[in-house]
Amino acid sequence: MSSYNHLFQPGRIGKIEIRNRIVRAGTSETMAGDSGEVTDQLVELYETLSRNLVGLIITGHLYCHPRGQYAHHQTGIYDDSLIPGLRRLTDAVHRHGGAIFAQLAHAGSQSRVPGQMPVAPSPVPNALTGRPVAEAGEDEIQEAILAFGSAAARATEAGFDGVHIHGANGYLISEFSSPLTNRRDDGWGGAVARRDRFAYEVVRAVREAMPSEMPVTMKLGMFDAAPGGLTIDEEAGRAGRLVAEGLAAVEVSCNVMQRPTDSARKYVAVGPWRALLDWLPQRVFSSPPAEAYFADAARALRGHVDCPIILVGGMRRRETMEQILARRDADFIAMARPFIREPDLVRRLAEGGDVAACTSCNLCLTHESHHSLRCWRVPRQRLLEHAWYRLRGGFNVTFTPRSH
Ligand SMILES: Cc1cc2nc3c(=O)[nH]c(=O)nc-3n(C[C@H](O)[C@H](O)[C@H](O)COP(=O)(O)O)c2cc1C
Ligand code: SF4
Repeated sequence: MSSYNHLFQPGRIGKIEIRNRIVRAGTSETMAGDSGEVTDQLVELYETLSRNLVGLIITGHLYCHPRGQYAHHQTGIYDDSLIPGLRRLTDAVHRHGGAIFAQLAHAGSQSRVPGQMPVAPSPVPNALTGRPVAEAGEDEIQEAILAFGSAAARATEAGFDGVHIHGANGYLISEFSSPLTNRRDDGWGGAVARRDRFAYEVVRAVREAMPSEMPVTMKLGMFDAAPGGLTIDEEAGRAGRLVAEGLAAVEVSCNVMQRPTDSARKYVAVGPWRALLDWLPQRVFSSPPAEAYFADAARALRGHVDCPIILVGGMRRRETMEQILARRDADFIAMARPFIREPDLVRRLAEGGDVAACTSCNLCLTHESHHSLRCWRVPRQRLLEHAWYRLRGGFNVTFTPRSH
């Protein structure tokens, strides 16, 4: 096969056929109603992605328990009343031949919801939110595991093709895995096997709640961003054991973070010319940071898991994507920010496009939980809106509800 012909080959995750190797990575939309219910805006976003040929869409993280909510207007899957709305999402994607997995999440101490009592393995303030937390009791841990299982049953009823468990980026599962945030010395912490236990029990609860032919996959935090934390070696071993519990594919990312840019690095593949074109004068004299920044973690996993690997993190040029697939560093290419700016990116690549327009400036991430998901660089007047919001001190208010 020519080295430029992998991206548009069909692939398979468990029994689900995926029409190409491109995955829309989980991207929190904060477009839901007050109780996390699906809105017309969400349906339209997903329908647009599928109509434009995305192979597999992973939803933004769906909170499986009210205490696991990350932000206002995040989509929920914590109650049966939310199923009909979620069914609208899956129908919209299936109408255009796409596949969609529900990303099940519990935010742990990373919740940004005011008045919420977060759950965490140990009383370690969250590195991103600074939020103080108490150590979870046995009943709270069991409740969180049960919530993942019930959410998986709801995802099945809502017509999702599979379930993707969020086990990365500082949320509850990654907090249990990390020695930095899990300081327990009981059945849920201490030695590696006990720090593994929460993730196992979640995978088991989810697997048991779903029909055997429906795939369960997981976003794995491969390493902590801070020294003394979880290492790739330890996580690769855990991944092998989790796959043996029934995972059909794994996505690699980082685990507990120090800064949001640990998972979403800035300005990948942005050289002087693209910097000028996208009004980024501060980048004109800087060399472009590397693409595919989690590729090493994916390579480290290959010998430990016998399932497809999904790579996320800073892939922007088609050439890079093709090389990753050709070398079998990964089996699927997942992108998040490029689809915020260009929901029709896959179609454009299929028609000969060679680079995503997103310059990874992270304005969309800065506005997360303040506004619904959008690219703040196009149309250009959005940059003015952003500047005005910032000047008014919009970002200084902690745990703000979305303003529009
Ligand atoms: C605005 C925004 C929201 C995100 N929300 C989620 C999410 O809900 N679930 C998740 O697993 N990752 C989330 N991420 C991380 C992305 O999935 C992805 O791992 C990261 O952005 C790197 O990929 P990229 O370079 O293609 O953007 C989010 C990233 C951004 C920028
Ligand atoms: S604001 Fe737009 S260009 Fe910047 S990272 Fe987000 S999608 Fe990409």
